[in-house]
Amino acid sequence: MAGSADENRGTVSAQLLRGQKALVTGANSGIGMATAIALGRAGADVVVNYVAGADEAEKVVAQIKDFGVRAYAHEADVSDEAQVVAMVARMVEAFGTIDIMVANAGLQRDAAATEMTLAQWQKVIDVNLTGQFLCAREAAKEFLRRGVVEEVSRAAGKIICMSSVHQIIPWSGHVNYASSKGGVAMLMQTLAQELAPQRIRVNAVAPGAIRTPINRDAWSSPEAEADLLRLIPYRRVGDPEDIANAVVALASDLLDYVVGATLYVDGGMTLFPGFATGG
Ligand code: BGC
Repeated sequence: MAGSADENRGTVSAQLLRGQKALVTGANSGIGMATAIALGRAGADVVVNYVAGADEAEKVVAQIKDFGVRAYAHEADVSDEAQVVAMVARMVEAFGTIDIMVANAGLQRDAAATEMTLAQWQKVIDVNLTGQFLCAREAAKEFLRRGVVEEVSRAAGKIICMSSVHQIIPWSGHVNYASSKGGVAMLMQTLAQELAPQRIRVNAVAPGAIRTPINRDAWSSPEAEADLLRLIPYRRVGDPEDIANAVVALASDLLDYVVGATLYVDGGMTLFPGFATGG
């Protein structure tokens, strides 16, 4: 039903990001997909980056275009410097500039620390940490070149790093992933400090357990989900839209004074739920 409470739940005004140009890495699935769609719904033109899964990326593009904004898919590996440089250059050519970079692409290669290969370690650091650095760097160069355009946004540009609750929660069996997200926390804060005087806002969203392919094993059976819910005070597994809405808010001028912050969107996972009864 048009305009029903259910339809409107969690959606944002199509005016919020009108005229802004956004790039979302890893936007062909999970959190990235929901974020790219939410940015389009909020009025932004969107580049849908992916490294594999062209069909999915094209479906996301089609959904975004339905909002009456522009979108296209771009294949690039965020850990490859030349590919990131080319991706942002093409966007500047196609859309004129970039206002919002969502450095989202990430992966897991889980193993016990003593079993973890250097390749598993390196892959996760390359994509999750180096990839975010490269994307942030290329976006920031364009923000600096263009400067603030008041009619578009109070900021010269916004960078949103996709972190994780594991930027502060140690995670056995995932030392590569937790280390990469710990690195993202300091990457984000240092960039925020360095670029704020130029009116560039750098912030992070730190999701908890969100229903996406990356953690399917943790929620796809009732037993696994029950186990997972013990770690979530709010007692629900998150949806990709929970994260997408947080990114839209951080990217918008509503949160123009938020600089260098990590917004935990985790149903309380970082509240040490084990201490609800113990201690
Ligand atoms: C990981 C998921 C995990 C969640 C909470 C995320 O960053 O990618 O696999 O379920 O953190 O532990």
